[in-house]
Amino acid sequence: MQAGNILPSFKAKFDGHSTSEEVLRDVDLSGKRYIVTGATTGLGFYSAKMIAAKGGKVTITARSGDRARETIKSLREELGSEIDADTFDFLVMDQMDLAQVKAAAEDFLSRNRQLDGLLLNAGWFGSEYKLSGTV
Ligand SMILES: NC(=O)c1ccc[n+]([C@@H]2O[C@H](COP(=O)([O-])OP(=O)(O)OC[C@H]3O[C@@H](n4cnc5c(N)ncnc54)[C@H](OP(=O)(O)O)[C@@H]3O)[C@@H](O)[C@H]2O)c1
Repeated sequence: MQAGNILPSFKAKFDGHSTSEEVLRDVDLSGKRYIVTGATTGLGFYSAKMIAAKGGKVTITARSGDRARETIKSLREELGSEIDADTFDFLVMDQMDLAQVKAAAEDFLSRNRQLDGLLLNAGWFGSEYKLSGTV
């Protein structure tokens, strides 16, 4: 199916009350890997969990390695024992610092893994506009 045709059929089936379980019911993400930024909490955490629940592998990003490890532990606890040992890995980066973003991208590339999608979730709104550091 062409990407341009997906939205109308999606909108015909789902609305703001649809759950992720309903949306993903017939989806199989086996063999796919995604990067989810800001997966330590909130929507990013849940997105990482649902991708893994559907068989995908997830590289999460966090601002600290300790927080990333805690997050993966929590994800594994919530998902149970059927999740493969290599389902999750992590990258460390603060997205306000482009040098860290570049280093994280290089770290990912050095692992020679496929990448099927990016879920760029990290962030917040309503805060003052600020320029990030440059590389
Ligand atoms: N929740 C909503 O109703 C809603 C509605 C519309 C849009 N959104 C958008 O959806 C996204 C997630 O929302 P949420 O409510 O789940 O947010 P959240 O619970 O506040 O989580 C934000 C995530 O972003 C990470 N993060 C924050 N600043 C970062 C930085 N400088 N570098 C790297 N990571 C950073 C946090 O990591 P740490 O653990 O390091 O803090 C955390 O994992 C945001 O972009 C938000 O604007 C949310």
